[in-house]
Amino acid sequence: MAGYVPGEQPKQALLCKLNTNENAFAPSSAVKNALESLDWERLRRYPDPTADALRDRIAESFDVERKNVIACNGSDDLLTLIFRSFTSPELAVACLDPTYSLYPELAKMQGAKIIPIGLDFEHDFALPGDLLEQAKAANLLIITRPNAPTGNSFPLSTMREVCQMFDGVVLFDEAYADFADDNCMEFAKEFDNVIVSRTFSKSYALAGLRLGFAVGNAKLIEGLFKVKDSYNLDMLTQVVGLAAFCDQKYLKERCGQIKAIRDDFAGQLQKLGFKVVPSQANFLFAAPPDGDGERYFRMLRENGILVRYFPGKITGKYVRITIGTPEEMQSVATVTEKIFPRGDTRRG
Ligand SMILES: Cc1ncc(COP(=O)(O)O)c(C=O)c1O
Repeated sequence: MAGYVPGEQPKQALLCKLNTNENAFAPSSAVKNALESLDWERLRRYPDPTADALRDRIAESFDVERKNVIACNGSDDLLTLIFRSFTSPELAVACLDPTYSLYPELAKMQGAKIIPIGLDFEHDFALPGDLLEQAKAANLLIITRPNAPTGNSFPLSTMREVCQMFDGVVLFDEAYADFADDNCMEFAKEFDNVIVSRTFSKSYALAGLRLGFAVGNAKLIEGLFKVKDSYNLDMLTQVVGLAAFCDQKYLKERCGQIKAIRDDFAGQLQKLGFKVVPSQANFLFAAPPDGDGERYFRMLRENGILVRYFPGKITGKYVRITIGTPEEMQSVATVTEKIFPRGDTRRG
């Protein structure tokens, strides 16, 4: 197997680092306060193996019980648990194509067959009408909503139908849901085959902390607990994560700000002749007018701007640009306008 290759974390200072969908802004000041008031001597002890204080707060906020929540070392850890629990050489997994490129690597570790469900790239990467038919042979169906790297979402009515009809576990990977207009959390309560996962890496601006969680039917969550490391979540992460989660006001304000920057930047790119997939996330998937994503990626890089490029027949036409601060997005717009002057709308 090739193994998952994470986005580049450059050592040298760049003008703008917009390649791994980190948050444009600092975390809540509640995080700083929690760190400052932490009793360092507590590090002598093992952390709470089940992260009860954090899970209770999350459960309360989504109106579920502690037994419906699991907290993990980033949502990647959660994905590992889910693949280990629900896939095997006999139990296939279905996921979108394109989507988060970690899933196929996790499937390979399990020897599990992956069923890619091609999105309709001519219609902004919409779901195909025969999604359920294609996913029929899978035990686990992952719907990344909003999807990555495309940034678009899918109708809630279709999601409900999927939960009702799919004969297996449905995972909604909602890493970017805090930037979206709606989410599937209610389905985790309504259906016994549904898990919804979230992360603190994007909306909470805590990618460096490593914290994710999932909500689902108690029996599914209980199964995941059997597979996890005993102390998968360190004490620091539990304390800081709880403080961040309690500051929902800050979360909403910052997400609102990022959404406004996103929509404004999308408009600027469109004026320069870019094809921009409608985004519900903190990034844009955008194709330059000449349809050469790799060239645009390289030219941005030469100008100190790092975005993400995904080689491929379709994905290679695009780049994925994380939404940064207004100043960062202005730098991208300025460089982009030099590469593609206004009115030059040639398409490849
Ligand atoms: C769709 C999706 N799911 C999960 C993750 C992993 O997030 P975490 O930092 O919580 O491991 C990412 C990270 O980029 C992602 O894009």
